[in-house]
Amino acid sequence: MESISPELVKTDLIKPREKVVYDGHPLDRLSPNPVMLAPMVGLTHYAVRQGVADFLPDPKRALWPTEMLNSRRVPSQHPNDSPEVCFADMDNGLYPQLLANEEEFIRMSVRRLEGWGVKALDINMGCPVNKALKHNYGVALMGDPVYAREVVATTVKYATVPVSVKLRAGLETYDEKYLFNFVDGLFESGASWITLHPRTAEQKRRGKPNWNLIKNLKLRHPDRRIIGNGDVQCHEEIVEAFELTGCDRVMIGRALMVKPWLIRHEPEPDAHTQGEWYGQFLKAVLKYCREQYEESAGMRRLRFLQRQGKPWVEFGEYLQGRLQAAQNYEEMSTALDKFFAQKQKIIKKTELRT
Ligand SMILES: Cc1cc2nc3c(=O)[nH]c(=O)nc-3n(C[C@H](O)[C@H](O)[C@H](O)COP(=O)(O)O)c2cc1C
Repeated sequence: MESISPELVKTDLIKPREKVVYDGHPLDRLSPNPVMLAPMVGLTHYAVRQGVADFLPDPKRALWPTEMLNSRRVPSQHPNDSPEVCFADMDNGLYPQLLANEEEFIRMSVRRLEGWGVKALDINMGCPVNKALKHNYGVALMGDPVYAREVVATTVKYATVPVSVKLRAGLETYDEKYLFNFVDGLFESGASWITLHPRTAEQKRRGKPNWNLIKNLKLRHPDRRIIGNGDVQCHEEIVEAFELTGCDRVMIGRALMVKPWLIRHEPEPDAHTQGEWYGQFLKAVLKYCREQYEESAGMRRLRFLQRQGKPWVEFGEYLQGRLQAAQNYEEMSTALDKFFAQKQKIIKKTELRT
């Protein structure tokens, strides 16, 4: 495990600092790469972030999200406690996402995360699971524009780094006027940029994301930064998303778990070369897991990553069985070597899991 200075983790030692000032828009400075990785529970931990970042040429200028971190837990967490707070890539544009709604937890979480060297913070207003709804954060905040504005303003008050929001189109249904007024409020409260996943909470990941909402939001805010997200699976769709919406960045979640090269925003190679690259990616993620995570936690994460990619991989079901049967990191490594010793093929587009 990489050790992190105790000075950095002692929240109270960190004195209030000036806001970080950027020459130009902070998103353009921090994350000029056109494609961004989406925050995903169980997936966007250090080993995967690093595995995706390997596909970007140096200096890999992009923001790298954590999965959503609970602001009630962050104040008592230590870096490297678990994969979700493993920040071995802390110099690399770390961009944690917070589930947050109470001032004291926000204050303590922001202090702690900034002490760990993060470059920006995101507030989750899209998580549709019941637990988030019950605690009135995640997408629940979309039902209360005034409260949502306060959450942003409070986070901005304590943060020295830029604060953004990732949100959905709405709760049960969407109303463009309501959504746009809601976003206006977030900008007015200090949000530096917005990521829109244009589905409702009710839809979860079913149905089609409405990319027209992103287009119209960008038309309403030509000078703001708007990131579009939802169902992009191949290079052509990245191009299409930019053309259709005029958004400033395309954020990709699931497809990057099998095609990390999409982060480069370049035409993709043939299906077999993709199979080879996918093998390199899984082996690199395994290596990073081995370096940083305790074995059972790392194995669980690698299996989950492979299951996400399965629909795009011709014999993904077989690989899943091999990884399931592996008893330790070494056996996982052997299983990957054997599987990728044969030519493998990646499918261009697939039915996305819901
Ligand atoms: C397993 C999984 C976990 C997710 N966890 C989060 C999360 O922690 N925070 C968040 O804002 N969105 C989360 N999402 C939603 C994604 O960030 C993204 O908005 C969604 O998957 C649509 O993008 P995609 O089609 O490119 O995957 C998650 C999605 C998946 C599949």
